[in-house]
Amino acid sequence: MTVRIFVPRDAAALALGAERVAKALVGEIEARGIDATIVRNGSRGLHWLEPMIEVETAEGRIAYGPVKASDVASLLDAGLATGGNHALCLGKTEELPFLKSQTRLTFARCGIVDPLSLADYRAHDGLKGLERAVTLTPADIVAHVTESGLRGRGGAGFPTGIKWKTVLDTAGARKYIVCNADEGDSGTFADRMIMEGDPFVLIEGMAIAGIATGATKGFVYIRSEYPHAIATMTQAVEIAHKAGVLGTSVLGSAHAFDIEIRTGAGAYVCGEETALLNSLEGKRGIVRAKPPLPAHKGLFDCPTVINNVISLASVPIILDKGPIYYKDFGMGRSRGTIPIQIAGNVRHRGLYEAAFGLTLGQIVDDIGGGTASGRPVKAVQVGGPLGAYFPRALFDTPFDYEAFAAKDGLIGHAGIVVFDDTADMLKQARFAMEFCAVESCGKCTPCRIGSTRGVEVADKIAQGIEPEKNRELLADLCNTMKFGSLCALGGFTPYPVMSAMTHFPDDFSPAPMVEAAE
Ligand SMILES: Cc1cc2nc3c(=O)[nH]c(=O)nc-3n(C[C@H](O)[C@H](O)[C@H](O)COP(=O)(O)O)c2cc1C
Ligand code: SF4
Repeated sequence: MTVRIFVPRDAAALALGAERVAKALVGEIEARGIDATIVRNGSRGLHWLEPMIEVETAEGRIAYGPVKASDVASLLDAGLATGGNHALCLGKTEELPFLKSQTRLTFARCGIVDPLSLADYRAHDGLKGLERAVTLTPADIVAHVTESGLRGRGGAGFPTGIKWKTVLDTAGARKYIVCNADEGDSGTFADRMIMEGDPFVLIEGMAIAGIATGATKGFVYIRSEYPHAIATMTQAVEIAHKAGVLGTSVLGSAHAFDIEIRTGAGAYVCGEETALLNSLEGKRGIVRAKPPLPAHKGLFDCPTVINNVISLASVPIILDKGPIYYKDFGMGRSRGTIPIQIAGNVRHRGLYEAAFGLTLGQIVDDIGGGTASGRPVKAVQVGGPLGAYFPRALFDTPFDYEAFAAKDGLIGHAGIVVFDDTADMLKQARFAMEFCAVESCGKCTPCRIGSTRGVEVADKIAQGIEPEKNRELLADLCNTMKFGSLCALGGFTPYPVMSAMTHFPDDFSPAPMVEAAE
């Protein structure tokens, strides 16, 4: 029987040499006359073990990693094709603690299936949600999504069902589904992993959104820095079209839905929904004032659902297993699961999907295994470049939208970046202001001017120039940006700045320059 060996084609695995490993495997397998095929799967999300290869055996899949091309010969000598033992053998994939303790709903297939095999997708429960959706009325589909408690995973946490209902209830000659795959937050990669590892789940989620709201056309706006995701999504859309999953009659129903892939030119602000719509329309990516909401007047002035990749990719399982199944996971008003992306100075970097409610400490210490440097954790930035820095004192905060907001933080797209005790939080605060100044679309004054002034004030504090007065000025500036900015780029930059200043005051009190010189 032909053995299946899985070598990820996920960008993170490729960056760590997966292509060389695949080539070496093909060569050695041929030379040794082994009856095996190589499947290029997505990543399982254990990035510190990439490239992690797997072999299918009667007992389940056996994992090996991190594998280099130079390891391939010895792996085959050790009986890789039958799951043989080797120094790089990690045991059964499903038994790896990092994977075993997860609740994978959205990422259920990622790393398991061949991303571009629709047959494999179907064999692993794919298309069940869409099959159910075509039997329901649009209002029923929207009710399912509302009932599930799903909230937008792009950052704002807005209830997805309410957004869909607004579009359903708004008349329009055409309606659109726009998938936000700009994924600009630092330390985030969940969107990319899904698009590369299980693209059909996103296509299925978008088709369900189309049927639910009366939209017949979808766009996936993917950042240009994701060439592999763009290639995989483009091929997957073609395959789905040929198979009748997309097109004039979705799964043979009376509903039409098609998808186009579009590439962003590379601006953080183009992840903001209205700037994204401008960019999609071929205009400069600047923020539009709201109202009107995109749900009323979005792409080409038509009613538009704009959702993050993970929001849309979470819909198929809700339709398949029912809203209560999904809603049963989580805590408070944060229902279902959240794919947490663990990055920065941390031992176990990767993607960890779990029900809402784990504490930050559990994520960083237990799951992440502490810092990669072995030094104490100083701070964790949660929610991308606009997210707050949390000190160890706040590690009991549960991963929940409201709990983070109560501590002046945000979950955002659920990326966490870990810093050890060598981090200088004043420098991080300056970086937040600098990032805002570089990425600002320039439309409103508090963000455009405020961020540049913020960099200057941070520099003065660093130089010991009137530190107390300048700390007050920085706080005042943050207040102006928070309440005076048109969008969350300027409005949320104060979160990393103020959290750094509040929780790490020592870093904002460098020795005065004059005294230091004496
Ligand atoms: C500066 C800025 C950048 C953003 N970048 C992204 C992004 O890369 N991806 C994303 O899904 N949402 C991003 N958002 C949030 C979107 O504006 C919007 O809330 C989201 O696409 C809605 O989808 P959801 O409800 O499914 O989360 C960004 C917001 C701001 C203010
Ligand atoms: S806050 Fe910044 S990015 Fe947002 S509209 Fe104003 S200038 Fe543009």
